[in-house]
Amino acid sequence: MSKASSANTQIEVQGHRGARAVLPENTLAAFEYALELGVDTLELDMGVTKDGAVIVVHDQKINPVICQFKDGRQIEDDLWIHQMSLSEIKEIDCGTKINPRFADQQPRAGSEIPTLEEVFRLVEQSPLEKAKTVLFNIETKSDPSIIYAQPSPQEFVKAVLAVVEKFDLSERVCIQSFDHRTLIETYHLAPQMLTSALFDEAPKDWVKATAQAKANIVSPDFKLIDSESVTTMQQAGLRVIPWTANHARDWDNLIELNVDGIITDDPQALLEHLGRL
Ligand code: G3P
Ligand code: CA
Repeated sequence: MSKASSANTQIEVQGHRGARAVLPENTLAAFEYALELGVDTLELDMGVTKDGAVIVVHDQKINPVICQFKDGRQIEDDLWIHQMSLSEIKEIDCGTKINPRFADQQPRAGSEIPTLEEVFRLVEQSPLEKAKTVLFNIETKSDPSIIYAQPSPQEFVKAVLAVVEKFDLSERVCIQSFDHRTLIETYHLAPQMLTSALFDEAPKDWVKATAQAKANIVSPDFKLIDSESVTTMQQAGLRVIPWTANHARDWDNLIELNVDGIITDDPQALLEHLGRL
């Protein structure tokens, strides 16, 4: 029996940037597909335009590897999203080019960078049963070393919370970030909101570092954790949801570690591995 089939199949499955293994990242098409698959959680990234719209995009500059202008022109200059208006953002197509790291990706020509509102509306209007319960793990992409690349942590969180509240989704949203200042702001502005502290390096003390970030969930690079660290975090009342594991051998290792969830680019394969599809 595989580790997966003997393990906790209730493990939370998060579709990373929707389902980046098969569809262009952070697009409505990817979120719709992940929802149809039955993921527990849609993972996405956020930035803020210069006119204050919260948009769903990973990079602080438009990524020329995966995006182009809608009229087919290539992106040759640095286009900082926080220095662009929403209408300028809407001139970009991030669905035609295939991400070279994901050869099986299917293009969705003309896919715009969606707003957070558009993602929430897609789910709100979906006839799927899963749409009533699916969760959202939404990441503030904020880099303290480039202050012009995003609003202040407080402005960023306020803008995000306004959208979450508009759709009455406070109980289905978790705000995640590598910039723990945004999690601390969330704690001050909406203390009931779930937050997840992202780590790309192991801190000396996971529990202390997560407490300092005022977070309820620890979300490490999946390569950083072992049985001892996961047990310590869970005994401290934290949930552990690593990113971004895409292969069966890694899923089995994480299941063996008893993690609470897995963030993956290939949610279909993970759901199949867990016997849920
Ligand atoms: O959710 C965590 C994971 O998404 C962080 O990495 O760079 O893919 O946003 P990244
Ligand atoms: Ca992310």
